[in-house]
Amino acid sequence: MLLPMFQRLSMAFLVVSILHLRVNAQSTTADRTSEVGEAAITDPNEECSPYSYPPVDNQLSSFPAIWEAASILPNDSTAQGKWNSISANIPSNISVKTQPPASNYSSNDPDCWWTYSLCTEPKLSGLSTDITAAPEPSTLGYGFDDGPNCSHNAFYDFLQSQNQKATFYYIGSNVADWPLEAQRALADGHEICAHTWSHPYMTTFTSEAAFAELWYSMQMIKLAVGVTPTCWRPPYGDVDDRIRSIAHALGLQTIMWEYDSLDSDINGNSITDQTVDTSYNNFIQTANNGTFNYTGAIFLTHELNNFTMSEAVKFYPQFKSSFQHIVPVGVSLNKTQPYVETNYSLPTFEQYISGTVTVNGTRVSPNSTSSSESSTSSDSLSSTSSGTVSGNGLPTASSSNAADRLTDTGHYSILTSILFLISYLL
Ligand SMILES: *[C@@H]1O[C@H](CO)[C@@H](O)[C@H](O)[C@H]1NC(C)=O
Ligand SMILES: *[C@@H]1O[C@H](CO)[C@@H](O)[C@H](O)[C@H]1NC(C)=O
Ligand SMILES: *[C@@H]1O[C@H](CO)[C@@H](O)[C@H](O)[C@H]1NC(C)=O
Ligand SMILES: *[C@@H]1O[C@H](CO)[C@@H](O)[C@H](O)[C@H]1NC(C)=O
Ligand SMILES: *[C@@H]1O[C@H](CO)[C@@H](O)[C@H](O)[C@H]1NC(C)=O
Ligand SMILES: *[C@@H]1O[C@H](CO)[C@@H](O)[C@H](O)[C@H]1NC(C)=O
Ligand SMILES: *[C@@H]1O[C@H](CO)[C@@H](O)[C@H](O)[C@H]1NC(C)=O
Ligand SMILES: *[C@@H]1O[C@H](CO)[C@@H](O)[C@H](O)[C@H]1NC(C)=O
Ligand SMILES: *[C@@H]1O[C@H](CO)[C@@H](O)[C@H](O)[C@H]1NC(C)=O
Ligand SMILES: *[C@@H]1O[C@H](CO)[C@@H](O)[C@H](O)[C@H]1NC(C)=O
Ligand SMILES: *[C@@H]1O[C@H](CO)[C@@H](O)[C@H](O)[C@H]1NC(C)=O
Ligand SMILES: [Zn+2]
Repeated sequence: MLLPMFQRLSMAFLVVSILHLRVNAQSTTADRTSEVGEAAITDPNEECSPYSYPPVDNQLSSFPAIWEAASILPNDSTAQGKWNSISANIPSNISVKTQPPASNYSSNDPDCWWTYSLCTEPKLSGLSTDITAAPEPSTLGYGFDDGPNCSHNAFYDFLQSQNQKATFYYIGSNVADWPLEAQRALADGHEICAHTWSHPYMTTFTSEAAFAELWYSMQMIKLAVGVTPTCWRPPYGDVDDRIRSIAHALGLQTIMWEYDSLDSDINGNSITDQTVDTSYNNFIQTANNGTFNYTGAIFLTHELNNFTMSEAVKFYPQFKSSFQHIVPVGVSLNKTQPYVETNYSLPTFEQYISGTVTVNGTRVSPNSTSSSESSTSSDSLSSTSSGTVSGNGLPTASSSNAADRLTDTGHYSILTSILFLISYLL
């Protein structure tokens, strides 16, 4: 009596295991050629193994070497022409800086050098004030520097599960290495800003080299993702009026911050994981005591590695309870046209907070309600956007998202196994 039962159970377990193997086998033969395929990979090691993407790889000879200081390539007449057209308006009486600041720099801070004095109100006329906070009350301008990180799928999946959009400040060299990861930001409805080509202290660069750092990061984002950013963040916040004027001439709004998580500053002694937790907790306390009741905030955080992304995930629920609204910086500014190309839009702040978090071809979050999404894309992006969601939160049959398909298969195999188990035992 007992033995046949045992045999039946082991048989059922065998079936379950085989079905599991099938799901696993499917994920190891990942599609590394498309945004959707790359976004479906869940093993961080697999995500971080290199792949080739010809549309970018074939153009790499027209860019500076990856992770090396940029300069205008000798034969790049487009970049040279652009520099020639703006260089006369770049101040020549603001000197190239040293890092750390030299002791003879005037304490009046004539150049509005953030690294020296945290100055964000330019002294040179014609430049706008840096953005340091989301202007709306109780609003966090949510964003992450230094991406795309090759292993970011778990983090972006998390944001998608929360129907949360953010601003990503992408380094050109990372985009060149991980173009499909960069594409995911746009497909998911996030905002992309530039964060230079090789992440230098910009004030230590000559004006032409600083121009090249910005120019090639913009061109790489355009090549890999299809859009040209109109915002940037200086690495280490290192900006002065000379660098601001170069960014301004390239149509880039300078986005800074007022609060810092220190998540990229772990140094093994004075700054530890605990320091970062403390910074997060202090920021949350500051939000809770009413500091942002009239003007919101920007908190510096990074898409740098597993730790920085895990911290973002860990503290997200507290952010949700401490702020009324968490939105991309561009949304907090009502910047509905975030790119040079006019065929891609962000929602207004009002639209976003009333549930319309994307207005152009983005992937539908697996458990969001379809009413909050209106996908209008008719180009290649629409291949990631046609998945619709029914009221019960399960993808409908029309889902064409590879990530959804994989999940479907997972659900399918587990359901089948359970049914099989029950029918076998009966
Ligand atoms: C510049 O020259 C390199 C070879 O040195 C070539 O591969 C590249 O296509 C050229 N770029 C442009 C913009 O002409
Ligand atoms: C640099 O020159 C401009 C005029 O071209 C002037 O307005 C500005 O005050 C000067 N800046 C410094 C730091 O001398
Ligand atoms: C500061 O000193 C350096 C040399 O050490 C010099 O090149 C530079 O012009 C000085 N800057 C000012 C503002 O005096
Ligand atoms: C979406 O689903 C995930 C996992 O099932 C869950 O953790 C998350 O809270 C859900 N998000 C929303 C907005 O319901
Ligand atoms: C809130 O907390 C911050 C940080 O502790 C402090 O600087 C600020 O003065 C506090 N504001 C109020 C309104 O209590
Ligand atoms: C901030 O707003 C909250 C909620 O409206 C209120 O309870 C709190 O007293 C306000 N704090 C300050 C410092 O204005
Ligand atoms: C991304 O994150 C992973 C995991 O923490 C790390 O190993 C890798 O060096 C990071 N960098 C890039 C450029 O992806
Ligand atoms: C961090 O790494 C662990 C182990 O690989 C992984 O399970 C987790 O999803 C990662 N978290 C993030 C936010 O990337
Ligand atoms: C954004 O638009 C809303 C509604 O039109 C307005 O109330 C708000 O002041 C605007 N915010 C900014 C920063 O322009
Ligand atoms: C916008 O138009 C450009 C060409 O003008 C195209 O390459 C790109 O794919 C379009 N993007 C969207 C989101 O339609
Ligand atoms: C994106 O949305 C804007 C405004 O709603 C619209 O004008 C544009 O045509 C849309 N672009 C695509 C590719 O759907
Ligand atoms: Zn950075």
